[in-house]
Amino acid sequence: MKVNEVTDYAVEGRVAVITVNSPPVNALSIAVRQGMVAAIERAQEESEVGALVLICEGRTFFAGADITELSRPQVDPSLRDLLRVIENATKPVVAAIHGTALGGGLELALVAHYRVAVPSAKCGLPEVNLGLVPGAGGTQRLPRVVGVAKALEMVTSGTPIAAKAAHDMGLFDELVDGDLRAGAVAFANKVLDEKRPLIRVRDKTEKIEEARKHPEIFAEFRKANERKFRGFLAPEYNIRAVEAAVSLPFEEGLTQERSLFNEMSAHSQSAAQRHVFFAERQAAKVDDIPADTPVLPVGKVGVIGAGTMGGGIAMNFLNAGIPVTIVETKQEALDRGIGIIRRNYEATAAKGRMKAEDVDKRMGLLTGSLVLDDLADKDLIIEAVFEDLQVKKEVFAKLDRIAKDTAILATNTSYLDIDAIAAATSRPASVIGLHFFSPANVMKLLEIVRTRDTAKPIVATAAKLAKTIGKIGVTVGNGFGFVGNRILAARNREADRLVLEGATPADVDRVLYDFGFPMGHFQMRDLVGLDVGWNPKATSSANVREILNEMGRHGQKTGGGYYDYDEQRRHTPSPVALKVIEDFAAKQGIARRAVSDEEIRDRTLYAMVNEGARILDEGIAARASDIDIIWVTGYGWPRYRGGPMFWADLEGLPKVLDRLRALQAAHGDDFAPSPLIERLVADGKQFKDA
Ligand SMILES: NC(=O)c1ccc[n+]([C@@H]2O[C@H](COP(=O)([O-])OP(=O)(O)OC[C@H]3O[C@@H](n4cnc5c(N)ncnc54)[C@H](O)[C@@H]3O)[C@@H](O)[C@H]2O)c1
Repeated sequence: MKVNEVTDYAVEGRVAVITVNSPPVNALSIAVRQGMVAAIERAQEESEVGALVLICEGRTFFAGADITELSRPQVDPSLRDLLRVIENATKPVVAAIHGTALGGGLELALVAHYRVAVPSAKCGLPEVNLGLVPGAGGTQRLPRVVGVAKALEMVTSGTPIAAKAAHDMGLFDELVDGDLRAGAVAFANKVLDEKRPLIRVRDKTEKIEEARKHPEIFAEFRKANERKFRGFLAPEYNIRAVEAAVSLPFEEGLTQERSLFNEMSAHSQSAAQRHVFFAERQAAKVDDIPADTPVLPVGKVGVIGAGTMGGGIAMNFLNAGIPVTIVETKQEALDRGIGIIRRNYEATAAKGRMKAEDVDKRMGLLTGSLVLDDLADKDLIIEAVFEDLQVKKEVFAKLDRIAKDTAILATNTSYLDIDAIAAATSRPASVIGLHFFSPANVMKLLEIVRTRDTAKPIVATAAKLAKTIGKIGVTVGNGFGFVGNRILAARNREADRLVLEGATPADVDRVLYDFGFPMGHFQMRDLVGLDVGWNPKATSSANVREILNEMGRHGQKTGGGYYDYDEQRRHTPSPVALKVIEDFAAKQGIARRAVSDEEIRDRTLYAMVNEGARILDEGIAARASDIDIIWVTGYGWPRYRGGPMFWADLEGLPKVLDRLRALQAAHGDDFAPSPLIERLVADGKQFKDA
């Protein structure tokens, strides 16, 4: 019998089955809430009904609140009303879970008196990843079921757990192999036959009693995760909510959870994290490339160069089950490159994160070669040789003669002009940039660089491929450093000037670290290696970096760069590097002075924002949010600050413009405000409107 357009009610013997079918994901919309409340009331009234089953059709169990309703006035029954009706039912309610029970979906399952699930189901409270706290009792009920330690782990990581784990920790009462509905009804009958009690999670206390005796568990958890949570507010707020579950009576705990939720949902960190969440999905879409653009099959991949990048790039495809041929110029380099790949896999297997037989399986997909001709039948060829335009042009000219007509020819260049590389071929429409980040098997970002000639199916194929290999692909235009490295170059420029003018590398790094970057600017340089892009034959002591390189100070790997490093690669400020900086400043006639933290912050970050604005204005990036995704996923911009363009909008563009003008007056035209910022301010707009 239909209760309303999304809710069905049926009675099987003693069990009322309430089925919701509200595609695509059974969000808890007004229709769903109304239908369920009506159906539950009916089941309560019908004397032959002894128990209830709540189940969903379609892809998944309830997906949580209906986000389209967030901006509209609340219509009763609210989600909390519905949860109250379920929890207060006088007949046992069994939630039957398939797909995912995340956020509001799990909170709903937690007010049922029993939970059964199919083995493929997953559940979790992912709110923390949007800078939020669950707002419908999740933080109060979860610890009562799984205990404080596991609840803390779940609410602060947001990571969904598999059904088996949920069953092991008592979150699911039974796993159902086969038909979920039949299994759930059988379970409900068992509850009735065995006269099992009607279990309201809110009344369960034994798990939290235990934590009451050990309040230090919270301090210990905070300490153990200090580094991971650094800068983020939401994990701390989730911890406080679980603390409230332990220290307060249930209703007061709920009120406390609500107030923590309200505070976080109004906080800029949550706005930033939600921005990143949506920006990531948006980035996958390329405006002028419709979804039905044909894509080319990519069954065989060639990689040229088995160095730092080539090896990591190859691993992405091996991981996805795609065979790779990797080409080097010398046997020794080939052996070294392939050896590193194997050792990488073996290390993963040793940590238990991969099966030993998978190491061989993946290595079995890899072929080494010294002959470019072996790439003749490849669908995609990615060049990762030295960053030298001439070398790359030669490689592409050869590829043009070797590769099959339909092959995609990609370069992993960091800065070079891909139009110029494409011009070395007779088929520039097939040439594209696939800019991976180091380590290429780990870093999520892939800048997909289209040139003026790249054909749309090639771009569409690259965007799809990014997903296949688990990357976040952002399509950008061709130009020096594309998006990410061009903005980095602006920060480089200011960081270099700041240390000559009087700041130390540690000063610059402290300010950026405190802003939320995982490491400072000069620490990052030392880690990457100061000799990347340095030519020992052409070096002329032209800047501090060259001088450090000439001294053999190439960074972490040589025990010294901008910092000194011990055997554990722990850094300390380097008197030697500081002397180099001071001497170079003197030679340049720069009088060193005290530089404030505020100046460091503004000059490094505003230079980045200004460069981002230019990139957007030139159409190299299609959207401000694409720039944000590149910097958040590729360069460690703190997620809770949303990316440079989002952050600038928060600062307020009029303030940004004023500050840029002041910096221009003090430090020259590199700070000349981007015309886009001037236009946006004149129109009262923000980057997000650009
Ligand atoms: N290292 C990074 O962090 C990083 C990040 C993104 C992009 N990139 C870019 O990736 C490319 C490779 O950088 P890398 O760090 O891996 O350099 P690398 O020096 O570690 O490796 C380059 C490899 O290419 C090989 N090689 C050179 N010419 C060749 C040819 N004609 N045929 C076959 N092999 C050849 C070399 O023997 C060497 O093993 C560069 O364009 C670089 O700008 C580097």
